[in-house]
Amino acid sequence: MKIAITCNIKAEVPPHLEECYAEWDDQETIESVREALLERCQEVFIVEADQHAPARLQGLMPNMVFNMAEGMGGDSRESFIPAILEVLGIPYTGSPPLTLGLCLNKLRTKQILSCYGIPTPRCFVVESEYRGMEGGLEFPLIVKPVHEGSSKGIRDDSLVRSEEELVERIHRVIDTYGQPALVEEYLDGREFTVAILGNADDIRVLPIVEIDYSTIPEGANPIYSYEAKWIFDRPEDPLDIFRCPAPIDKELERAVSNMALDSFRALGVRDWCRIDIRCDSRGRPHVLELNPLPGILPAPQCNSCFPKAARAAGLTFSELVNTVVDIARKRHGI
Ligand SMILES: Nc1ncnc2c1ncn2[C@@H]1O[C@H](COP(=O)(O)OP(=O)(O)OP(=O)(O)O)[C@@H](O)[C@H]1O
Ligand SMILES: [Mg+2]
Repeated sequence: MKIAITCNIKAEVPPHLEECYAEWDDQETIESVREALLERCQEVFIVEADQHAPARLQGLMPNMVFNMAEGMGGDSRESFIPAILEVLGIPYTGSPPLTLGLCLNKLRTKQILSCYGIPTPRCFVVESEYRGMEGGLEFPLIVKPVHEGSSKGIRDDSLVRSEEELVERIHRVIDTYGQPALVEEYLDGREFTVAILGNADDIRVLPIVEIDYSTIPEGANPIYSYEAKWIFDRPEDPLDIFRCPAPIDKELERAVSNMALDSFRALGVRDWCRIDIRCDSRGRPHVLELNPLPGILPAPQCNSCFPKAARAAGLTFSELVNTVVDIARKRHGI
């Protein structure tokens, strides 16, 4: 079996540029995935998801692609590699181009969730100029770029409590990230993230992870912001921010798991996904977003939700990677 990993690899950049590459994978992660795949395959190739990827993939014609490519820009960037693979007829892990495109766009995701009756915070989008509150939303609100991940553009001060702050943050998102700002009602309850492996009837929810906000520095807002993910939390000084399995009662566990599964199906996700869910002040869960290309940092001290949930389910990093391949092979019938 010949397998290729499609990915975008983080370059060494000065700290002020780190945010630009937050979604991309570091060399250590790619190497760990390669080692995991080599336990079961004879040949593993690394293909960078750039403009040369189509020709490289056509030259290699692997039996399977392990797709981790976050893409190089634009709101369809995650769809690029799966679209090429479909044209070339190469089987790959994970979701198809349409699902990746939809899930990258938080507004489109929320519209689809709403069509299926899945709760998600109320919101509106500002394309260029703020023209007043829409949809009867009330403060506090959270302002985020409409199509980013890894908390890019979600800073500690993205949680706003006045119109003055709201207008400033909206224009910061539009000017800095060159895309519309999504304004959402802020849910102040418990937050969970749910890792799912499988398809159709052969699907499982891994132990739920809770984000424990009592661990973030005093004075910081209780959101999993860019600072919380990448600045307060460093491998050399990790934040003990996850509880896994989350200490929740059976009823909430069932509601959160079912909501994650319903969202997975509603968006047409395949093989694996991590779904972020937060409760409102009355304890009712809502879906924030889906991550069909979940981050997988291999080192346990680097807080990474999917590998954490997998470890709690008894899967090592390498077993997780190979399980995803097995799930995709089964789906493709190979
Ligand atoms: N409506 C909301 N109410 C409360 N908290 C929110 C809301 N939206 C976002 N947050 C907080 O901000 C964090 C990041 O938001 P979100 O998951 O939308 O961004 P992301 O960049 O796509 O994240 P990821 O790293 O999972 O890709 C959430 O984990 C949550 O803590
Ligand atoms: Mg998220």
